[in-house]
Amino acid sequence: MTERTSLAINYLEQCRQRIDAELDRSIRQDSASERLQEAMRYSVLGGGKRIRPALCLAAARAVGSDENTALTPACALELIHAYSLVHDDLPAMDDDDLRRGRPTTHIAFDEASAILAGDALQTLAFRMLASAPALSDAQRVKMITELAQASGHKGMVGGQAIDLESVGVQLSLEQLENMHRHKTGALIEASVGLGALTSPKVTESQRSTLSDYASALGLAFQVQDDLLDIEGDTEVIGKRQGSDVAKAKPTYPALLGIDGAREHLAALLNQAQRALDGFGEEADPLRAMADYVVTRNH
Ligand code: IPE
Ligand code: IPE
Ligand code: MG
Ligand code: MG
Ligand code: MG
Repeated sequence: MTERTSLAINYLEQCRQRIDAELDRSIRQDSASERLQEAMRYSVLGGGKRIRPALCLAAARAVGSDENTALTPACALELIHAYSLVHDDLPAMDDDDLRRGRPTTHIAFDEASAILAGDALQTLAFRMLASAPALSDAQRVKMITELAQASGHKGMVGGQAIDLESVGVQLSLEQLENMHRHKTGALIEASVGLGALTSPKVTESQRSTLSDYASALGLAFQVQDDLLDIEGDTEVIGKRQGSDVAKAKPTYPALLGIDGAREHLAALLNQAQRALDGFGEEADPLRAMADYVVTRNH
């Protein structure tokens, strides 16, 4: 393991502790139904790498903000991500029974509970952002707008729709990239984008540089996810290995072969790292996260 990758693992662990405490508190505050609350907690807590919150905190650091100002936006990102996973696993979508090393939410509870837990996690994300401490109203509105766009039909949900429409279809490289940019890239880009918005002094040029980094990383993230579906071990990845192949999902390895997908991944990592060249050591956590995303084994 390189020094940078172990830095990322430590950084992720620190983020997990801070984010999970906050998420636990917020979910506890919100409940009309105990079963719903339990399904929400099951879906969010107790597993997952917390890559999006970590990217949000790391981007805040890169633009000179106090990482604490990014804590609530980071939680909002994880809530949207967790909701997307719960719905992604439903029988009508990927029909998966294993997630984060445990039964998926619809298996541990039931389908209706999983649908409702996803719905409630999504709205909780926006409620938290709307009252995020240490941010101005203008910052909150910008963040809500960016997160809504990245997670909705122009972003993640749009990408999920393309994914489902493309089962068994041979996509061109351009079409595949477009799908990945939406279903996974958009939320990764928003993670970095929201972190950058914590600084009222962030310049357009810093935003655009960080966006180049996030755009390459977002794509790289899904290429590695596709590779792990083939090369990973169910025990380690915590999801059923071979699920994409079994469902004839359009993936990078399916189109380019494993070696082709790996080469593509290396080029994307290089692009992400180059984008940060103008930053100093304040961007080291972002650099470390990029290395981690492409070398992770789960
Ligand atoms: C998995 O995301 C879903 C994709 C977008 C490919 P992660 O690999 O970040 O999942 P967790 O949060 O660590 O479980
Ligand atoms: C999921 O992509 C992207 C989401 C928006 C949840 P996948 O379907 O490849 O994610 P996994 O492999 O089930 O985690
Ligand atoms: Mg899917
Ligand atoms: Mg899936
Ligand atoms: Mg996958």
